[in-house]
Amino acid sequence: MKDQLLELEERAIEEIEAVHDLSELEKFRIKYLGKKGQVTSFMKNVGGLAPEERPKIGKLANLVKTNLSQRFQEAKKTLISGKGDRAELFDATLPGREPLRGHLHPITLVIKEVCQIFSRMGFRVVKGPNVELDYYNFEALNIPKDHPARDMQDTFYISDNVVLRTHTSPIQVRVMETRKPPVSVIAPGKVYRRDSDVSHTPMFHQVEGLLVDRDVSFGDLKGTLTSFVHQMFGGDTRLRFRPSFFPFTEPSAEVDILCVICGGKGCRTCAHTGWLEILGSGMVDPEVYRFVDYDADIYSGFAFGMGIERIAMLKYGIDDIQLFFKNDMQFLRQF
Ligand code: DAH
Repeated sequence: MKDQLLELEERAIEEIEAVHDLSELEKFRIKYLGKKGQVTSFMKNVGGLAPEERPKIGKLANLVKTNLSQRFQEAKKTLISGKGDRAELFDATLPGREPLRGHLHPITLVIKEVCQIFSRMGFRVVKGPNVELDYYNFEALNIPKDHPARDMQDTFYISDNVVLRTHTSPIQVRVMETRKPPVSVIAPGKVYRRDSDVSHTPMFHQVEGLLVDRDVSFGDLKGTLTSFVHQMFGGDTRLRFRPSFFPFTEPSAEVDILCVICGGKGCRTCAHTGWLEILGSGMVDPEVYRFVDYDADIYSGFAFGMGIERIAMLKYGIDDIQLFFKNDMQFLRQF
């Protein structure tokens, strides 16, 4: 009896070690541990044994059953988790799983493109702090504390003298403070204003440009920005310089391009004007030079600043600025 039982156990162990998959494992379970399985039947027979044999064999049969059940559970776990050294679980002929490949965000792409265009024209890329002193954000740009121009930009104040920069223009002042002309820089970065709707987000991106040297004229400004627009939007893009006001430039101009949606006929996107504003610019106001110790009689220069989201929306035909910050993969995968 005892030998029979041990033989049965040995056979069962050999079999379970050769099991390759879950269906084989189930066959094993039915064969040995199922209701009519060999171990189960054996245990049913224990009752018919001689009384002196019964406890010994019964105990042994229980041990065998526990042992096989444990092995069954372990094999099941390994098969389900796919771990273990069962070589046949690894199918070398299956195609590999391609890792998801990310790419740059459309805003980053546009910033890079703008910086590349100006780099080719000799501008150097610089950065400035996002948390800025009131002095650089406003004061030194010829926007005194009580000036109504401050109302144009609804500002996040950190304290009386510290703000989240509302534009990248303060970088102009920081550059001029530390370098003598000639300077030509391009400065991308995040800016912050208390604003939120389909065309405004509380954080957005700008790129600032500044060039100061001897004999810089408005013609240089026009030539530089025209070349930029043609490289960014295509060589046949029409643009216009529209007189405007900024406290830190004089004269000032805003640059419009012919509406990319309606081609100038007038539509909702261009508020039926046929034109789309893409940037502010002008000749650096001599007042600003006073803050940085540049001699306005010797030097002149131009500056410009553009909103990157706006450029990206026009370039790609996007009508909702919030899309840039929603992390919607369906949107982002298109770039
Ligand atoms: N800083 C301005 C704004 O955020 C844009 C701007 C206008 C920048 C004229 C300039 C400039 O450098 O010359 O609205």
